[in-house]
Amino acid sequence: MEYIVVKGGKKLHGEVTTSGAKNAALPILFASLLAEGVHRFNNVPVLRDIASTERLLQHLNCTTQRDGGSLIIQTNPPDDYTAPYDLVSQMRASILCLGPLLSKYGQARVSLPGGCAIGSRPINLHIDPLRQMGAEIHIEKGYVIANCKRKLTAAHILFENTTVGGTENIMMAATLAEGTTVLENAAQEPEIVDLAIYLKSMGAKIDGEGSKVITITGVDKLTPSEHTIVPDRIEAGTLLIAGAITGGDVKVEKCVPAHIQSLIEKMRESGFTIDSGDDWVSVSGGNMGHGVDIHTIPHPGFPTDLQAQFMALMTQCEGASVITEGIFENRFMHVQELIRLGAEISLNARVAVVRGEKGKLEGAQVMATDLRASASLVLAGLVANGETQINRVYHLDRGYEKLEEKLASLGATIKRCA
Ligand code: EPZ
Repeated sequence: MEYIVVKGGKKLHGEVTTSGAKNAALPILFASLLAEGVHRFNNVPVLRDIASTERLLQHLNCTTQRDGGSLIIQTNPPDDYTAPYDLVSQMRASILCLGPLLSKYGQARVSLPGGCAIGSRPINLHIDPLRQMGAEIHIEKGYVIANCKRKLTAAHILFENTTVGGTENIMMAATLAEGTTVLENAAQEPEIVDLAIYLKSMGAKIDGEGSKVITITGVDKLTPSEHTIVPDRIEAGTLLIAGAITGGDVKVEKCVPAHIQSLIEKMRESGFTIDSGDDWVSVSGGNMGHGVDIHTIPHPGFPTDLQAQFMALMTQCEGASVITEGIFENRFMHVQELIRLGAEISLNARVAVVRGEKGKLEGAQVMATDLRASASLVLAGLVANGETQINRVYHLDRGYEKLEEKLASLGATIKRCA
């Protein structure tokens, strides 16, 4: 099983480019099920989760083909409308095929995604709105069985709590429904906006994307289109933290600073020198910050997907940092691993208190447990004294394209070993 070895102590310097956003690409690739024909997607990152999505789309009778940084998908009517357990269990975002299949073909049979390391990850906020839109849905032998005799009908959906995937699934389903659907308490993540841009390029009628109220007026037919995936804000934030934690000078290019404004403000509050332009953000000066508190909440708040990485940074910042995880019930799997490296962190339910001290970490073997925890351990390895070995890096490959190469290009001593 592959692992990564990092030798700590190098200050990172230089420019690095962000790849396309995994969490935009996944729903957008599933949205291609809404229109038969050839779709072209540019700036699609090469990731395990993208490959999993391609396998599921191929199972649904699509063909997929890479053309450099682009992915071309030919959508055809599926032979069966099933997303099988062996594919869905590899990537829970596969549930995002439910809305498109149900809306386009009136039927879908999707394996329940199951939980994962960071939480139980229920899908009630995907299923209940579809029932409100006229679908008959029941769970049978671990599968969501969904049918809709006629077209889905519009509804006024109030999400009881904010859900990125739920907003995406229902927004996609509503594009071909009868009438105008209103989503209240919708997620506002930039990936929702990117999905809406693609759907509108296919002929969908959508307003309000990026706000808490999205309105979708159904149309009879959508047509295949072309789209360039938005830059990955979580990768951009991870790379910015890599520069900061090493006391280096790093410029992250081809990103959208506004998408990580909450991180930028927290890093400035901590004392880091952060600058930004239209499509870049940088950290410079080499000074280490002091501990600051964060509370992860839906966008535009501090993103839960940067919580683990920010915690690694706080292990180097003098003073206490209170980190509250407001989204997932178990997103502190990285804490015990950071403690193995010598970090001083106390944990109580959804609150972690980090007592940071520059240069305190000592290299050791650690284990990645989920995607963002893996990134957190790589960041810690960049500053730990000696060598850190991060095992189970397949977690990292789900969501970061060539991370160790990007960090090595900035001067890190890091390599992947088989
Ligand atoms: C998306 O997951 C992202 N994944 C996650 O990124 C991200 O952490 C999360 O949004 C929050 O921003 C993709 O976009 C592929 P949610 P999603 O539905 O849609 C509860 C990464 O590291 N909930 O917004 O599954 C849920 O348990 C991944 O790239 C319900 O109760 O997240 C959670 O507590 C990890 N019922 C909260 O809502 C539901 O039906 C937010 O979940 C759905 C969700």
